[in-house]
Amino acid sequence: MAKASSSFVCQNCGAAFNRWQGKCEACGEWNTLVEEAGDNAVPVSIRAKRRGRTFKLESLAGKSNDAPRLPSGMAELDRVTGGGFVRGSVLLVGGDPGIGKSTLLTQATSLMAKAGHRTVYISGEEAIAQVRLRAERLGLAAAPVELAAETSVEDIIATLSEGATPKLIVIDSIQTMWTDTVESAPGTVTQVRASAQALIRFAKKTGAAIILVGHVTKDGQIAGPRVVEHMVDAVLSFEGEGSQQFRILRSVKNRFGPTDEIGVFEMTGLGLREVGNPSELFLSERDLGSPGTAVFAGIEGTRPVLVELQALVAPSTLGTPRRAVVGWDSARLSMVLAVLEAHCGVKLSGYDVYFNVAGGLRINEPAADLAAAAALVSSLANAPLPTDAVYFGEISLSGAVRPVAQTPARLKEAAKLGFARAVLPEQTRGDAPADAGLALQSVGGLSSLVADIAARGTRRGDDDGAPRAKAASNATPARFRRQEG
Ligand SMILES: Nc1ncnc2c1ncn2[C@@H]1O[C@H](COP(=O)(O)OP(=O)(O)OP(=O)(O)O)[C@@H](O)[C@H]1O
Ligand SMILES: [Mg+2]
Ligand SMILES: [Zn+2]
Repeated sequence: MAKASSSFVCQNCGAAFNRWQGKCEACGEWNTLVEEAGDNAVPVSIRAKRRGRTFKLESLAGKSNDAPRLPSGMAELDRVTGGGFVRGSVLLVGGDPGIGKSTLLTQATSLMAKAGHRTVYISGEEAIAQVRLRAERLGLAAAPVELAAETSVEDIIATLSEGATPKLIVIDSIQTMWTDTVESAPGTVTQVRASAQALIRFAKKTGAAIILVGHVTKDGQIAGPRVVEHMVDAVLSFEGEGSQQFRILRSVKNRFGPTDEIGVFEMTGLGLREVGNPSELFLSERDLGSPGTAVFAGIEGTRPVLVELQALVAPSTLGTPRRAVVGWDSARLSMVLAVLEAHCGVKLSGYDVYFNVAGGLRINEPAADLAAAAALVSSLANAPLPTDAVYFGEISLSGAVRPVAQTPARLKEAAKLGFARAVLPEQTRGDAPADAGLALQSVGGLSSLVADIAARGTRRGDDDGAPRAKAASNATPARFRRQEG
């Protein structure tokens, strides 16, 4: 006998349990279990009798009759999706409240509608008048986007099944959708998952591309249904620092494209402006000539991006000094600090360290190590770095500066933006084109860079022995000198 089953579903990760408990054993969150009616409540009589239907197997080399990709007309968006929306694919766009998800998708649908494609925008959150108001503000009110304020998945699919299949459908947001097939309340994991499933089935069947908007929780995950991330073809995350106008669109997962590309936008009164050259933006508010900043010549996807790294190293009053990082991996910072301490004689254990990547960018490249180390030492020694220099290179645990890829692209971007010198790993020096237009300073070991920076330092008012002298005298421990020689 099947009994009417209900289960307790974690609203964070979607794991189901037979009874309520305070902590989800799957993801470790507290108080996230909510009772939901079982979503696999198909009557046994139907389940048991149904015999499989036979279907035809196809070859890999079949032809599809439509262009597989549909560019949105926004270059920065297309860069992140890998060249446009793929027919029949479902994309999840996540982001903090108010970051500009609806704005981005209103602009994208309008552009595509203007280009003659049938596009539909379904808002489950805002009334039609509000969506219109936004479109008016963005100067897009004339675009032939079809609009609705609906939340029933069955109604939406029935409506969209009529007439020509839309090329692009935006569902804003998936958390507001609900389907008759399950009993849970809208916004619960079961509802969100069932609604997403129905919409994904519709996309695969008809070839329409669907964009689902998803909210993000405090800790940066797409709210509730992490499960949805596995179901969709691509997950894009829209990020930005609240106070700043930059917005970064990043692909977290993409079945049809790269995941390391970023799209950069600026939020203005007229909507999101695409930023084709992010370096100019990230360097636009540079604080020239103050200690603790270094310009990192990085690569985001296929594009070089110059960005300022900022460090503040200050004497600590705490037993365990503070380590605060924004925009970089904190484990990576700990590693660089440990290497500075172990191989370069830079004592940081009595200091709080704050580290920030300007402009709200998040860096994942190990090539940022050298620039980070330069910023840290510069702050500690109160020694401003040359304002016309860029830094890149990976630091190994032994204190050696290791080569990184794409040296020519990094140098070219630096030269284009008016930098005059680059500090780079010894082994990549050879990769630099003869006409790089930059003076190259190659470093083999971190300690030589540290000594170099410390020698410029003028730390004032420090009575526990000037770090400048300390850093300089300790800069090259005997063990390391041997290695270098
Ligand atoms: N008149 C305006 N001038 C400049 N910027 C504006 C104006 N109106 C709105 N904005 C910007 O647009 C943002 C809201 O954008 P949008 O509604 O697209 O965000 P969202 O991510 O869809 O938010 P939600 O999660 O609430 O749906 C605001 O935070 C603000 O930065
Ligand atoms: Mg919105
Ligand atoms: Zn969980």
